[in-house]
Amino acid sequence: MIHDLVIRRIRPDEAGVFRGFTFKTFSALLAPPAVHAPEQICLGAWVQGIPVGLALAGPALLALGRYQLYSIMVAPAWRRRGIGRELVRAVAAETGRRGVATLATEWSDRLPGAHTFAALLAGTGFGAPQATLLRVSGPVAAAERLFRPGFVDRIRADGLRLRSWQDIGPAAQALADTLERTGGIPPWANPVSQWQELAPDLSLVLTDTEGKIQGWIICTAQRALNRWVFPIGWVSPAYAKRGWLLAGVAEAARLLMERYGPDARVALETSPHTPAMWQILERQFTPVAQWSDRLLTASVTVDTMQPAAMETTAAAPGSP
Ligand SMILES: CC(C)(COP(=O)(O)OP(=O)(O)OC[C@H]1O[C@@H](n2cnc3c(N)ncnc32)[C@H](O)[C@@H]1OP(=O)(O)O)[C@@H](O)C(=O)NCCC(=O)NCCS
Repeated sequence: MIHDLVIRRIRPDEAGVFRGFTFKTFSALLAPPAVHAPEQICLGAWVQGIPVGLALAGPALLALGRYQLYSIMVAPAWRRRGIGRELVRAVAAETGRRGVATLATEWSDRLPGAHTFAALLAGTGFGAPQATLLRVSGPVAAAERLFRPGFVDRIRADGLRLRSWQDIGPAAQALADTLERTGGIPPWANPVSQWQELAPDLSLVLTDTEGKIQGWIICTAQRALNRWVFPIGWVSPAYAKRGWLLAGVAEAARLLMERYGPDARVALETSPHTPAMWQILERQFTPVAQWSDRLLTASVTVDTMQPAAMETTAAAPGSP
């Protein structure tokens, strides 16, 4: 344990020296107004005045009522001396001071040092990590081969009809808005969040034989990367577990290959909400994919955490 360790909020004029202590995505949190926003937690660690670590946290991006540890880093020469643990405890204490009970965090299992981070979390009382998202990316030809010949026809025989978003996207969006308002779909399933990049020719609306909308598969284009992402697939509970979503993805992959060739890259994402999709991506696509990862989350109830072993100050000297 280092005796002259100081952990406290960073003043805006000190933020510059901590830039290298976090990912680019979070560097805005080190600049005003975020760096002194009361809801943000921006803690620096110093030993004898030398900056040795940084932790950034704030309101959880996707879950209301929780705080999220966005990033934590200790300078390589100072690792394995308990500074990371003290930073986590100080973040938990700051979270509790804001009246928030849960501190969560999220990371990719491809993060270099993911095991170190997981060990740090386990050692500070976080629960076991849960995989919340599986992301797989590869050539569309590999994705298309996942589905056996005749698979889509079999699901069509079960009543699935696939229409282009170009044809009935507005009706599907209106239904999604109504369902979200009335609690019929979770917010993640509403295509509105993807409107900016939505590819209307490759996004599909799932209907039954009477033309009633029963779901959608949203495709977004990252043309500069020759990459198509499928961030949302939703099917009404009445048609769940019948292969409808999988058939939609198979059809979208076929269309993508037809229009942009076998080397177009496809990125598929799935969550534990759609277990069949998770299984097929994990077992069959991951082994042939160019890239895959799992997003992990873990959380802790902050008042169960052991308090920081050293004195931490909530405010930076001279701060209002
Ligand atoms: C993760 C990180 C912040 C840990 O900081 P640290 O100051 O070295 O951590 P601590 O010394 O407080 O270690 C606390 C516990 O974490 C675990 N741990 C830390 N480093 C470890 C390692 N290299 N291997 C295995 N376990 C490790 C141990 O359980 C350790 O307890 P112990 O020393 O009593 O066994 C640091 O390794 C780091 O900056 N990594 C790069 C950035 C990063 O990946 N951040 C996480 C995602 S944002």
